[in-house]
Amino acid sequence: MAADRAVDTRVRVGSVELAHAVMTAAGTSGHGAELARYCDLSGLGAVVVKSLSVMPWPGNPAPRLHPLPDGMINSVGLQGPGVAGWFDEFFPELVTSRCRVVISLWGRSLDEYRQAALAVADGLRRAGRAADGVVAVEVNLSCPNLEGRRGIFAHDAELSAAVIDASVAAMSGATRPVWAKLSPNTDRLVEIAGAVRGAGAEAVTLVNTVLGLVLDPETGRAVLGNGGGGVSGRIIHPVAQRAVFDVASAHPDLPIVGVGGVSSAAEAVALLQAGASAVQVGTATFADPRAPATVARDLVTWAAAHGITRLSDLTGVAHRGGIHPLPPAQG
Ligand code: FUM
Repeated sequence: MAADRAVDTRVRVGSVELAHAVMTAAGTSGHGAELARYCDLSGLGAVVVKSLSVMPWPGNPAPRLHPLPDGMINSVGLQGPGVAGWFDEFFPELVTSRCRVVISLWGRSLDEYRQAALAVADGLRRAGRAADGVVAVEVNLSCPNLEGRRGIFAHDAELSAAVIDASVAAMSGATRPVWAKLSPNTDRLVEIAGAVRGAGAEAVTLVNTVLGLVLDPETGRAVLGNGGGGVSGRIIHPVAQRAVFDVASAHPDLPIVGVGGVSSAAEAVALLQAGASAVQVGTATFADPRAPATVARDLVTWAAAHGITRLSDLTGVAHRGGIHPLPPAQG
């Protein structure tokens, strides 16, 4: 029997059932269906679109990306068409590709988050049945690349909770759950995850990029146009594992979407075992636009080879003693 028929790939993230545990990550698969020419987007759990603000936003000066061994650093600065422009320009091709969609949104203030969520709710209402594939809204509280920022929202439990509360209220009637994308650049992650959950987030996405800076030794200046940026890719995978594990330990009933350095099935498995219900493939897509589909396929092959018949059974394995529990320590 083919591996994909022997393994049930469906997973649940809170109230959302996804056909597969592997999705794309915000900011790494374009605004719409750009990856459709490389892979069947309907075979993924969902496509998470690049974070949208209520207004069109130009982003940061170039250069915006710089490769690193096992990853990269970026300071794109959340360039985007704004929510209304996105619904006009990019949403139709996602509908055509018949994939599930997670809309990611951001703001520079509580009110901008609220306005972005209201605009999303309005866009969904106008789209009617065409928007049935939109399964959730991921609120990005954790971008490190905003010019003049006073701090990352996701480093402040109260502020994060206020943003989620406002987003949930703005989305009421749009019947889509709100997920909160959090930052690894804080030792208060567990507390912040609890705060956003208390404010109505149905799941947390862990983690965004790690704050970094790369200087060019020939010039003594930053390689990115905006100075510092966010480090992503395989290089941060242990950071993501730790974040998912710690939050799952403290909040065992809070659904987690794991992201950070998933480039192969092994890394997807590790984040699921750490406690994630689903994973996102991000930076790997820049090197190979087929990466999300490849990881999705190889995860199924891995599960079949290990006698696992449901991908959902991988979630939290590390909290249940692992696959091969160690023998009890001798007296
Ligand atoms: O700069 C950026 O567009 C990155 C966004 C993010 O990390 O959330």
